[in-house]
Amino acid sequence: MKADLLITGISQLVTAEGPGPKHGRTMGELKIIERAAMGISGGRLLWTGKEHEWAGEAVRRIDVGNCAVVPGLIDPHTHAVWAGDRLADFEARTSGATYESILTAGGGIRSTIRATTKASREELVALAKSRIDALVRSGATVIEVKSGYGFTAAGEIAMLEAIEELAGLTPARIVPTLLIHIPPSDPTDRPAYVSLMRDELIPEVARRKLATAVDVFVEKEAWNAEEAEVMLRAAQENGLRTKLHSEQFHRIGGLELGLRVGALSVDHLEACGPEQYAALAGTATIATILPGVSLHLGIPAAPGRRLIDAGAAVAVGTDLNPGSSPLFSISVALALAVRLNGLTAQEALVAGTVNAASALGLVESGRIEAGLQADFLVLPGSDWRELVYVLGTNAVREVWVKGERIVA
Ligand code: NIG
Ligand code: FE
Repeated sequence: MKADLLITGISQLVTAEGPGPKHGRTMGELKIIERAAMGISGGRLLWTGKEHEWAGEAVRRIDVGNCAVVPGLIDPHTHAVWAGDRLADFEARTSGATYESILTAGGGIRSTIRATTKASREELVALAKSRIDALVRSGATVIEVKSGYGFTAAGEIAMLEAIEELAGLTPARIVPTLLIHIPPSDPTDRPAYVSLMRDELIPEVARRKLATAVDVFVEKEAWNAEEAEVMLRAAQENGLRTKLHSEQFHRIGGLELGLRVGALSVDHLEACGPEQYAALAGTATIATILPGVSLHLGIPAAPGRRLIDAGAAVAVGTDLNPGSSPLFSISVALALAVRLNGLTAQEALVAGTVNAASALGLVESGRIEAGLQADFLVLPGSDWRELVYVLGTNAVREVWVKGERIVA
């Protein structure tokens, strides 16, 4: 066996087993090899095992100095492309306004739509690039990015084109999603908007391969489940996967719709209840929780512990966006999931790797395994659990993608 590169001096080589949750297998298992090494060839993992068991040749060797190595993290939920800010909302909330009341009054998401649709492509890409760089420095090697601040069909296409350009500017893998975020403020305009999404925008996005999934925000201040179903079915008819923002504030049928259409994931779930944990268990739909939202908006944390105990498969994302989660670090999102949502450190790592991959429909990401792309992180210390323990300092020393060190 001949490797281009052999990484040695790994105190713990940590990965989750298997291809992610399937048919009810929930949190996966961690596999830890101590005093490990890793052979890499052509950007892929060639071999992993105990260092003393390596019997091949290596063109180059790097000793990481008794530090832990984990898979590249996957952020399965971001809105990294936006213009403007939401500092006025942030201040208004300290004097009693709520996220929902700001939205009802025409602010919140609607103010970000106004700022984003005014910005040029160049500005949007430059703004988003620095946010993606921050996520990468925090350990993300795969990042989902949603549209959703374009509002008109042309506006959403422009956002997806910006995301496509962004994908060419970072070594991380960008997974684009069309988000159908909020309805027109005049209720009589809603049916025509739904038809426009179904008949024009979704087919065009599919034809041009601008997104791999369609996401709909099901909420009192957004879409109802019936409208969302029309758009999600259209997504499926056009060969796209489906996701939902659901149960953020109210239970109005979003989660049940997600299960009915076989969505990749239902995201948020701060307001979900016991009968819903049970309904998710045993399905292939991932429960994606977003602790940054609970921290920033002061709303209840999604019941991560209870979801897992019931048998649901949980992923964690940053939900990076200006209104509900200005959180630029996937490792901090995992650290918060331990504190706020009751996950163990082990469950948090599974949630940020194999389960997050499943939430994006990716079967070959999130693991350190021979044959797969060599995407991994070198941590600053020898115990991998520091990844979800430290707060306010970068928990990641090096980020590697396709066998190349992209952050040192
Ligand atoms: O995931 N709640 C809906 N959408 C986003 C927030 C978008 C915003 O406030 O700009 C979310 O929380
Ligand atoms: Fe979101």
